[in-house]
Amino acid sequence: MPTVAAGIDLLSSRSFADGHPVEQYRWLRENAPVYWHTEPDGPGFWAVTSYELVREVSKQPDVFSSAAGGILIPDLPPEELEFFRTMILVMDPPRHSFYRRLVGGLFTPKRAALWRDSIGDTVRAILDEVCEWGECDLVVDIAGKLPSYVIAELVGIPRADGVRLYDLTEIMHSAPDAVTEEQRSAAMGEIIACAVQVRNDKLADPADDLASRLVAAEVDGRRLTEAEFCSFFMLLINAGGDTTRNLIGGATASLLRRPELLERLRADSVALMPSAVEELLRFQSPVVYMRRSAARDTELGGQRIAEGDKVVVYYGAANFDPAVFERPDELVLDRTPNEHVAFGAGGPHFCLGSHFGRIEGSEMMGQLLARFGDLELTGEPTWLASNFISGPTHLPVRYTPSAPVGR
Ligand code: HEM
Repeated sequence: MPTVAAGIDLLSSRSFADGHPVEQYRWLRENAPVYWHTEPDGPGFWAVTSYELVREVSKQPDVFSSAAGGILIPDLPPEELEFFRTMILVMDPPRHSFYRRLVGGLFTPKRAALWRDSIGDTVRAILDEVCEWGECDLVVDIAGKLPSYVIAELVGIPRADGVRLYDLTEIMHSAPDAVTEEQRSAAMGEIIACAVQVRNDKLADPADDLASRLVAAEVDGRRLTEAEFCSFFMLLINAGGDTTRNLIGGATASLLRRPELLERLRADSVALMPSAVEELLRFQSPVVYMRRSAARDTELGGQRIAEGDKVVVYYGAANFDPAVFERPDELVLDRTPNEHVAFGAGGPHFCLGSHFGRIEGSEMMGQLLARFGDLELTGEPTWLASNFISGPTHLPVRYTPSAPVGR
């Protein structure tokens, strides 16, 4: 019989109002790592919270499908699900493997490293925009700008278009009570129109950017169709946007609350940054969950799972599992090894942009600490009301004004 517990609610955004619900995760890991969670407007789902089981699910796409029911907990209307299935994140092998081969070469550590200087320049430009102000909202004015500028750079479009695209994804992600269906579909239409335009531009005039390479990429003599290109474009701006913003916003909030760690990282930034970024990824876990659907009757952690059941893996819970991470509640900047699952827990869908996310995180944290030597909080952060992605929405900070450094 599945365990049912009072006080467990992984659906309510209230549970995530101050970040991950670590106490709920703890109870679940200790008492029911595969827990039957009821759902007011749906059939319910299995919440998987131990590190080992999150990996087990992620590595078996033939048993735990992404395509069958999508990757979000609510079931989508069939036509919407059909659209999302055109995105790599919502495909199963072998279709998924084909797409991954098509685009994978553009996201290797080597390729990502080629972008480090340009990402560093982008970070410098963002900090130059705010350095004279003396105070700002670190999420809106700094962290939120980085992914939109970087995506613009990667794709090869003007920065202003990157910002517009990011705003459009915000509209798409807004809670149903915040925007109308018309606004949402208008935003989606504008993104697709932009993708078509970018594709046509890059076909006519290829450059050394990701979009030009995507247009030209070939596997077994086949290239991405226009519709496939648009889907991938939309996933790229979605997947690389909020996640990176939340990593940087959440990481800075965690460090500002631990001044001794902040100073240590500032003093030894070059040596410490690689492990610190991994630890900040673990600690922040910007993506809360991914859903799969059981492709057949199976068993997981001693529970019988029926074909069609929703199975939801919680990355933040796995990342605080004491079976794998010693003193998981502590931020340990030089933690090694650190096999966190912030980018996914292995398996075919492991984050394609992980190397870009790491570079963005380390460039931003490095330059931020170096330039704003007395950075401090001036108020309490507010947190995103979402059960899917976790991070602050506002982080008011103060620092001594300084002159822009330019390129
Ligand atoms: C801190 C930043 C980021 C985090 C925490 C993150 C996290 C994730 C997670 C958890 C997944 C799903 C893994 C799974 O289902 O097994 C994913 C997939 C993906 N991410 Fe990221 N991501 C980040 C940044 C990025 C960036 C910068 C890009 C693009 C440049 C990107 C592109 C993608 C894509 C295309 C997928 C789908 C891969 C597939 O289905 O094969 N991500 N990411």
